[in-house]
Parts: sequence; C-alpha cells; structure tokens
Amino acid sequence: MSAPIVRTRAELRAMTAGWRRAGETIGVVPTMGALHDGHLSLVARAKSTADRVIVTIFVNPKQFNNPEDLKNYPRTEHEDARKLERFGVDAIYVPDGAQMYPEGFATNVSVTRMTDILCGAHRAGHFDGVATVVAKLFLQTSADFAFFGEKDFQQLQVVRRMARDLDIPVEVIGCPTIREIDGLAMSSRNLLLSDRARARAATLYEVMEDMGDALSAGALVADLLSDARRRLDAAGFGEIDYLELRRNDTLDLLERAEVPARLFAAVWMAGVRLIDNIDVTPA
Ligand code: PAF
Repeated sequence: MSAPIVRTRAELRAMTAGWRRAGETIGVVPTMGALHDGHLSLVARAKSTADRVIVTIFVNPKQFNNPEDLKNYPRTEHEDARKLERFGVDAIYVPDGAQMYPEGFATNVSVTRMTDILCGAHRAGHFDGVATVVAKLFLQTSADFAFFGEKDFQQLQVVRRMARDLDIPVEVIGCPTIREIDGLAMSSRNLLLSDRARARAATLYEVMEDMGDALSAGALVADLLSDARRRLDAAGFGEIDYLELRRNDTLDLLERAEVPARLFAAVWMAGVRLIDNIDVTPA
C-alpha cells in the first residue's frame, strides 16, 4: 500500500502528535531519494525497531558545494514511493526548499574537528549542511530512532556527535553497507557511472579488502599504498582524495590497525566521486 506523502511541517506535526498521544515510537530514515537496496535495508531495520516509520526525501542544497552536482543529483520521487510500498511505511516526508529553509533562515549547525578530515577536507561546508538538515529533520519528525548507513561512516559519526551535543533525544543507529554482487558499495551516485566505468568501479572494494587483510595482520598503511595506487590507476580510477586508516570512534589517523579501525577511501572514477569504508579488525 502506498504511504501518504506529506509535504508540510504542519501536516507532519499533526501526524506525529497523534502517534505520540497513542504512546507509539517513531523511526526516521533520512534520504535524498533515488532509493536503492541500501536505503531499503535501513527502512526494513526501522520497521523492525519503531512502531511508526517516516522516510524523508529532500535533496539538501546546503550540503552540495558544487552547483552542477546538485543539479545532476537524481530525483525520482514517484519511483521511490513505489519502492517503499512493500514496507508499509507510515509517511514519506517530502518537504520543499521553502519548508526546510524558509525566507530569512540564518542558522548553521556545525560539528567541529571530525569534519575537518576525510570528506570534510575535500567538500567545504558539506557536513555543516548535513548537520543542519539532519538536526531539523530530527526535530520536525520528533523521532526516537534514526537510521543511517555505515557507507557514509563519517556522516554517521558527525550526526551522532551533533545529536549528543544538542541533547536531541534520538538514538542514531548505524546499519551495514549494502553492496552490489561485485562488491561496489550501493550509492545513488552509481547511477551516474557509464557501463564501462561501472564495471571497473568494483576494483576499489577489491583493493580495500586486500589492504584490510594485510592491515589486520599487522602491516603498516605506508607499506601498502603504492601497490593500491597502482591497481586503482590500472583500473581507470583518477584522483584519490584519500585512502586512510582511522580509529572507528574518534576518526583519528592510524599508521597500523592497533585498535578497532576503518579503512576509508574516496576516489574519482570517470568524473564520479566514489566513497567506501571497511572495518579493519586488528588480529
Ligand atoms: O546521506 C544522505 O542521503 C544525506 O546526507 C542525508 C543524511 C539524507 C542528509 O541530507
């Protein structure tokens, strides 16, 4: 059954107030649409956790630092609503720019330190845009639980920090990355790859898995980088924004996996920026 599409804060508030009066819990899955199986796994998790589930779809202009990227971002609302039918979600919240950032909007939510690294170092203002819109979505939906993919691990940690620091009473739940059969992490941006680039893109995961095995066995990151760069180059990847090992919790840089860590990568393939990360458990 198709879920009601809610476009205004007032409609959303009326709905959530009714659920609250009935003592029901609310889960939110924030998205920018172009839903794939990765998003749908978050929806399934939300359904098994909360009494009521809201999926939000809003292509947030504040988190794009490149106007072309914002313009080209896939917008597939009708298709998204159809994909959500089988989950029985309670509402699809699709605000427009004026609902989210009304005339005179002047507030910025900025998480410091952990946003200066990885994607934050390459996309000025990106995480301020994410933290601002997600804070608003948490408050607008009054969610008890929120679901984010580990594919965007830095985003997950930034959102957790923001909710804790602002005392927003929501439990942020991280869910595992969902991959295509060849290992490529699912992402709405994969739609922008040509067939040829798509076929080559899975090399990123292969290289990361091999690095992860060597790191778990005690290797130094520095000793693995030149081979990884050579393999990515041979597969047709362009610039590497980063390929780094970092602590799971603080995201501090590591030379070897001596504590629970993740290997993070952002690499360009045919004009599309792909990001991925994998867990690296020290042996
Ligand atoms: O991960 C995304 O799709 C976006 O960054 C999010 C969390 C929906 C905020 O716009």
